[in-house]
Amino acid sequence: MDVIALDDPTDPQIRGWHAVLAAVHAAEPDGEPTPQPHQTAARLLGAEQGSRQRLWAVRSGAEMIGVASLRLPGEPGADRPGEIDIHVHPDHRRRGMASGLLAVAADALRADGRTSVIAQVLARPAAVGFLEAHGFRLVLTLQGLLLRLPDLPPGRVDTLLASGPSGYELVRWCGVVPDEYADALAKAKHAMADLAEYEGAPWDADRVREMAEMVAKRGDDLYTVAAVQDGAIAGFTEIVVPADGAGRAAQYDTAVAPEHRGRRLGIWVKAAMLTWLAGERPEVTEIETDNSGDNAHMLAVNEEIGFRRERESREYLASADDLPSS
Ligand SMILES: CC(C)(COP(=O)(O)OP(=O)(O)OC[C@H]1O[C@@H](n2cnc3c(N)ncnc32)[C@H](O)[C@@H]1OP(=O)(O)O)[C@@H](O)C(=O)NCCC(=O)NCCS
Repeated sequence: MDVIALDDPTDPQIRGWHAVLAAVHAAEPDGEPTPQPHQTAARLLGAEQGSRQRLWAVRSGAEMIGVASLRLPGEPGADRPGEIDIHVHPDHRRRGMASGLLAVAADALRADGRTSVIAQVLARPAAVGFLEAHGFRLVLTLQGLLLRLPDLPPGRVDTLLASGPSGYELVRWCGVVPDEYADALAKAKHAMADLAEYEGAPWDADRVREMAEMVAKRGDDLYTVAAVQDGAIAGFTEIVVPADGAGRAAQYDTAVAPEHRGRRLGIWVKAAMLTWLAGERPEVTEIETDNSGDNAHMLAVNEEIGFRRERESREYLASADDLPSS
């Protein structure tokens, strides 16, 4: 089996890669919209800001049948895990394609001075079986939820908004956080401890701004609603409306600082967000989100708003030393 590195993918290679993703999606629908060729091209041609990516493929004749990407956040040797994603065409499974791709990616991971790698996958037998066979262990279960706005009972959001706690002021902005709230937002992001655990880099005002700039660079719009008390952000929620999301927006972070929990601030900022979006972006009909399976409180907040569980995804972690070599 020949694994080829795609350092600078050509148009035919991008089409081949997309064909693998489209075949996997068709064989195993996941409730997500069908991936579009331009989305694949954008992802292959530009690594996210602050990270590098390596790409590999396996071919059978002229046809691409397996692909792997490795995202390397930060500088070489950074104390953050790489992120691996492997797809094998459904007609070519159980022949060691993914194992071969993983071995090549693991060599690159170690050469970059990394000690670990994560994989985020749908909880399906092939992905789970493959990862567990290669020394990955489960670190996080995520529930994928979807809110269909037309299904919301009339008046539901207004009622939730009107029943907000006293002593807080709602503020909102689109894009990069206004300077006066930048430090406060970074502090509030620490409240998302479950994700911060192995994300490594701490949140500061610059990282908060960078994240918003990255979203804008993709052409997407980031909306933030926050509940403020004495200049501090007690809770906030973020939604991204993709430029080509066909009516589906994505929930980004939502957090309530520990000392402000238990006052229904999470529901309140989310209700304010829905009201704002309805006026500002009426084309948005669905919002998707992932919640950590052990974050019972956030799941309850989302289900009270009207989000419904769609699928389970999982994050697996492996030590670089435990992975195969090519
Ligand atoms: C997961 C996936 C990449 C595996 O690709 P593959 O080329 O069939 O995997 P390999 O042939 O290298 O399998 C190696 C081992 O993984 C395990 N494995 C693979 N598929 C499995 C399945 N369906 N059920 C149980 N174990 C499985 C087995 O131990 C297998 O060894 P064996 O065939 O000798 O029993 C492929 O099914 C896929 O593309 N799934 C959709 C995308 C995805 O979920 N990717 C997650 C990986 S990051």
